Amino acid sequence: MQVCRTKADIRTLLDGWRRDGAPIVLAPTMGFLHDGHLSLMRLARGRAGAQGKVIASIFVNPTQFGPGEDFDSYPRDEARDLDMLRSEGVDAVFAPDAREVYDPAAQTIVEPVELAKILIGKLRPGHFRGVATVVTKLFNILRPDAAVFGEKDYQQLAVIRTMTRDLDMDIEIIGAPIAREADGLAMSSRNIRLSPADRAAAPILARALDEAATLAPTGITASRLRSHVRATLEAEPRAHVRSVDIRDAATLDSLSGPLTRPAVILLAVSFGPVFLIDNRVVHPASEVP
Ligand code: PAJ
Repeated sequence: MQVCRTKADIRTLLDGWRRDGAPIVLAPTMGFLHDGHLSLMRLARGRAGAQGKVIASIFVNPTQFGPGEDFDSYPRDEARDLDMLRSEGVDAVFAPDAREVYDPAAQTIVEPVELAKILIGKLRPGHFRGVATVVTKLFNILRPDAAVFGEKDYQQLAVIRTMTRDLDMDIEIIGAPIAREADGLAMSSRNIRLSPADRAAAPILARALDEAATLAPTGITASRLRSHVRATLEAEPRAHVRSVDIRDAATLDSLSGPLTRPAVILLAVSFGPVFLIDNRVVHPASEVP
């Protein structure tokens, strides 16, 4: 497995592979990898095939963290990450530092418009601008045929799908299902920062989403379903509920009245200093797959 720190090195490597006709599939990460990230690498390998090349990037992107957010305390362990990627059979890793990625004199950003103002974008202003800008840069540096993103970050996946469509980026975007711990907690690099008591309480997110999936086919309205989920979360005293939303699963538009289409329930909940998100697509009776 090749590890490249500079744009020039990774470009030279990938140009050679591209000339050989190998499809190149990218899985971008901020490191501190867990099984959820590794499931992305496996999907990437499935898309690339045995002849293709799977590239992971590891870059804790400063521009997607707001002032006072956890950029400095974001967990990092590159040696362990590289071991994990090597055992997954990843072909190359792009692990630049911030100076390599960002020119201090840069003048251009990629700004998703309405999609970046709702939901997580409201709680983290500027977050999706940072994500869209860095993902565009990674796409331009690496020029992959396809890229894999997790459904765990549902709005991020929507922002990236929309961006590639809007800006005519010829890259296939592949969504990966949420990988969970045995007790249902969605895997996240941030879980390690939960205190033992918070870790024990955190599976309430997955339980609230399971309840919602059971209630969705009963003819319940979107607002009642949302209130039910919020009440379940608020019954856990350690959970600080930041937002509970129910949206059209395809467009992220607001919903009201009885469910008629697949809907996504999106949760953002803090436990002490740790910000967790989770989501689940639920189906009305007429739509149960
Ligand atoms: P990061 O949080 O490291 O996540 C990297 C990728 O792994 C994202 O596509 C994310 O959705 C996916 N992922 C994380 N936890 C997952 C889980 N439990 N199941 C399935 N997929 C999961 O998301 C980012 O980094 C950054 O915003 C990035 C896209 C790299 C841009 O900086």
